[in-house]
Amino acid sequence: MSDSYQPKPEDKFTFGLWTVGNRGRDPFGDAVRPPIPPARIVQKLSQLGAYGVNLHDNDLVPIDATPAQRDKIVKEFKKAVEDCNMKVPMATTNLFYHPIFKDGAFTANDPKVRAYAVRKTMDAIDLGYELGARIYVFWGGREGIETDACRDARDAIKRFRECINFLCGYVTDNKYGMKFALEAKANEPRSDIYLPTTGAMLAFIETLDHPEMVGVNPEYAHETMPGLNFHHAIAQALERGKLFHIDLNGQKPGKYDQDLRFGSEDQKGCFFLVKLLEDSHYDGPRHFDAHAYRTEDEDGVWDFALGCMRTYNVLKDKAR
Ligand code: GCO
Ligand code: MN
Ligand code: MN
Repeated sequence: MSDSYQPKPEDKFTFGLWTVGNRGRDPFGDAVRPPIPPARIVQKLSQLGAYGVNLHDNDLVPIDATPAQRDKIVKEFKKAVEDCNMKVPMATTNLFYHPIFKDGAFTANDPKVRAYAVRKTMDAIDLGYELGARIYVFWGGREGIETDACRDARDAIKRFRECINFLCGYVTDNKYGMKFALEAKANEPRSDIYLPTTGAMLAFIETLDHPEMVGVNPEYAHETMPGLNFHHAIAQALERGKLFHIDLNGQKPGKYDQDLRFGSEDQKGCFFLVKLLEDSHYDGPRHFDAHAYRTEDEDGVWDFALGCMRTYNVLKDKAR
């Protein structure tokens, strides 16, 4: 299909390796799709007209890789990205999958776990920098509780602040020129996650040593799950110059994190969202943190990816 809605690199559409690479696991069922090698993801997305691809450290480099294995994987991936004229604008750390993070990462009660989380993030920042990423996302998926008996919630905020301050120093000392984007989510996988909304993140940022380095990465699903108005969260971030990144997807209010295709829910809300982003001349990546339905095969994944981008362009055209 080639028409005026056809995505182009200038549209700055990005996907995560973990989004199009999602294998359809859910808490009740195992993977339904085979893994897609990262190099093929990069090629396919570039053929579809995307601008770039984002990643967690362990989407690319297994957590137990040796330094030599890591270097080989990164070198090959970098070549695939360059060959396809793609970019890696954003990188992030997986601080939620390994059992060590069962009590959180930056907020965990065990200081050894907190130290490991910071060290893992420093390595992942190095990886992101090497791949060209200048936006670094923090999603604290495990930074939460099932019961507040486990710690004083004020300590959690203090620990989180201490880690972000330290990592800002790390980026500055290395002259990486990176900015941090904090991503809020109210719940899932924890019962309650600290700093649950974009508004809470914006207030927290002002308490950091280097607030100018830190902004937000709001996600459509995360504000919509608790029934909040995503448009208003984006407006507040834009109004303060703090929208450093955005996670677009689809979500029904009051449900688990569905990560549906962008535009598949609340078309009117999506229209006003796209209008707001375009009217404000937001020039960051339009990242789709969404998954294809579990019933889809790999061809369905590419249809889904194209659909996210085309829907954005249709809405942009209507907004104009
Ligand atoms: C989720 C989150 C993640 C993050 C990602 C980048 O609910 O799973 O949205 O997809 O965006 O970990 O930090
Ligand atoms: Mn997200
Ligand atoms: Mn999410």
